Formats: sequence, structure tokens, C-alpha cells
Amino acid sequence: MKGVILHGGHGTRLRPLTHTGPKQLIPVANKPISQYVLEDLRDSGIRDIAIILGDIYPEKVKEYYGDGSKFGVNITYIYQGEPKGIAHAVSLCESFVDDEFVVYLGDNILKGGISRYVKEFSKSDLDAMILLCKVPRPELFGVAKFDENGRLVGLIEKPKKPPSPYALTGIYFFRPAIFDVIRKLKPSWRGELEITEAIHNLLVEGYKVEHRTVSGWWKDTGTPEDILEANRLILDEMKPHINGVIEDSSSIQGRVSVGSGTIIKRGALIRGPVIIGKNSRIESDVYIGPFTSIGDNVVVKSGEIENSIVMDGCVININDRIIDSLIGPNAKIILGEESKPSGRRFIIGESSRIIL
Ligand code: TTP
Repeated sequence: MKGVILHGGHGTRLRPLTHTGPKQLIPVANKPISQYVLEDLRDSGIRDIAIILGDIYPEKVKEYYGDGSKFGVNITYIYQGEPKGIAHAVSLCESFVDDEFVVYLGDNILKGGISRYVKEFSKSDLDAMILLCKVPRPELFGVAKFDENGRLVGLIEKPKKPPSPYALTGIYFFRPAIFDVIRKLKPSWRGELEITEAIHNLLVEGYKVEHRTVSGWWKDTGTPEDILEANRLILDEMKPHINGVIEDSSSIQGRVSVGSGTIIKRGALIRGPVIIGKNSRIESDVYIGPFTSIGDNVVVKSGEIENSIVMDGCVININDRIIDSLIGPNAKIILGEESKPSGRRFIIGESSRIIL
């Protein structure tokens, strides 16, 4: 089986972070979201993977994944550019795939992974198999409709009145019949070729489509809140490793991972689950609280941080508490001089959010 990772889209809900890179490269527990996807495919035995690139810094994706050899896979890049829909992205893979393949949205994370579904689909003669997840707000997703016998009869994109609580996750197994159906699709009201409609049409045209319901958590990381939740879910299961220097071991509580070259100064308090990358520095009197990921080359001189992601190269030096935040690479949050007039001083980019 071959794999396809969707790495395009605009990621408007994640601006300003997506002004400088695709959302799938945003780190969760210090690893890009799409790397969880790639590793899930690889660990399910899939070696040939196509990555569909969009038009937000696609070169950053190529630079990170290269030919895939560092990750134990072979990568083919396919350029989509403008996001014309998930079904459009899938249609670009026709010459890449031979028979069965799995499409995995590069911003989705599934606990437990897909390996059992890969085996099941390979052995089957199905034209498509979709994974559903029971969610509290199905109206935000493609939603499954069942008949009175519990048979899947349709899929509806973001319905006002959801016919069931089962959302379509961003993981789809297909055989080439999907390409014939996509060829007949028309763009939806939002101008996209919709995968929900393509799968619905497979069902209506009598192709063999089945569903499975995932039991663990599934996370679609489209918004900052989703990213923080994914970060919490991953950190909650993290196995701690300490490679850096902890000047006073009593300052580490719970599950904490610290990368090589990082120094945690005496007097700092780190309360896990927390991950801190390589070559970072956490000064005395700093408090890093649960569900926080701190990247590489970060300096936290003062302040408190909880339930947040601080990306590579940041400097934090404030007498205040940062919570529920996503802080992009190389950002500086620092104390002003003691000069008058006093006040808050900002240098911030388009679509930034500051909540004081
Ligand atoms: P979405 O989250 O629906 O779209 P988006 O990335 O444009 O986000 P926003 O609504 O915030 O602007 O996309 C789901 C996934 O599919 C995501 O990983 C991006 C990917 N995608 C493509 O690769 N090509 C496309 O044409 C579309 C629409 C999405």
C-alpha cells in the first residue's frame, strides 16, 4: 500500500503562525504534526509516500523531510499549490498510486495509529474504507449518516443538523475507483472539490465502502486550541528522558523530558508533563508548568509558563505568567526598560492575537 500526506491548505485559522510556514510543520511536543503522520504510515509498513505541497513555503517541507531516507521512507513530492480541496489533492496522486492507498491529512493525529486498518484494507476488496470518530460537535466536520440497520448510507459536510455524532476523520483508504468519482465532482459553495462528497458519491454509485470507528482519541489540529489540546494529549503519554543538565534535581516534578545541551538552573521549577528541547536554558526562579513544550535554543530568563508551546529560538523574560499560548519561532517576550512613559510595547505581525 502507498501513502499520501496532504501538506497543503491555507491554514487561515492558525495565522500568524502560517504566514511563515505550513501548519503541518507546527510542533506538538517538539515534533511537527505531519511527522506523527509520516511515522504512523511508516510504522504501518508503508514505505512509498507522496507529500502534497501547497503554496505556503512548500520548500520548508522539502527541506525538513528531504527524500525521506532520514525517516526510513521514500518520498515523492506532488505540487498542488492553491488549495482546491482535499478531493482535488487526491486526484493529483493518480499516477503515483498503483492500487490501494491511504490518504492522511497532515494535520491529523490518531492515537493508536492506523496499522490495523492498513492490514484490513489490504486484504479486503473494498473501494474505500473511512475512519469515523464520535465527537461532541459533529457539525464542524463531515458527518456520517446511517440507515435504521446501522448501515452507512451517506456523508454530509458540516451539516447544521448532524444526522449522527460520527465525524469523518482525515484518514481515508481508497482504491482507484475514487479517481473516476472525483473526475465527475463540481466545486462546492466554497470553491473546493470535497472529499466528503466524493465518498458519498462512491456509496450512492454502489461501490463498496465501509467504515470503522476509532476507539482512542483523534485530533484535527486546525485551530490554536486544537494544537494545544493535541500537545496535552501527546505530553500526557510521553516517556520522560533527561539528557540535559539539571542543576538541582528536586526542581523537576512529574514526567519531564530535557534535550541534550539544555541547562535547568538551580531554583527553577519544572512540573510535568513538560518537554524541553536541545540547547535551551531555563534560569532560576522560572516556573514551567504542566502541558508545556519548549523547543530548541530557547531562553527563559524569568516568568511562568503553563499549557503552552514555545517554539525554537524564543526568549522569554517577564515577571508574569504565560498560559494557553502558542509562541512562534524566534519570538521575544521581554521586560521593557524602566523608562517613562510606561506601558506595553508591541512589535507584532499580521493576524497576531494578544490577550492581556
Ligand atoms: P483544512 O483545515 O480544511 O483547510 P486549511 O488548511 O486551508 O485551513 P483553514 O480553514 O484554517 O484555512 O484542510 C485539511 C487538511 O487538508 C490540512 O492538512 C490541509 C490539507 N489540504 C490540502 O492539502 N489541500 C487542499 O486543497 C485543502 C483544502 C486542504
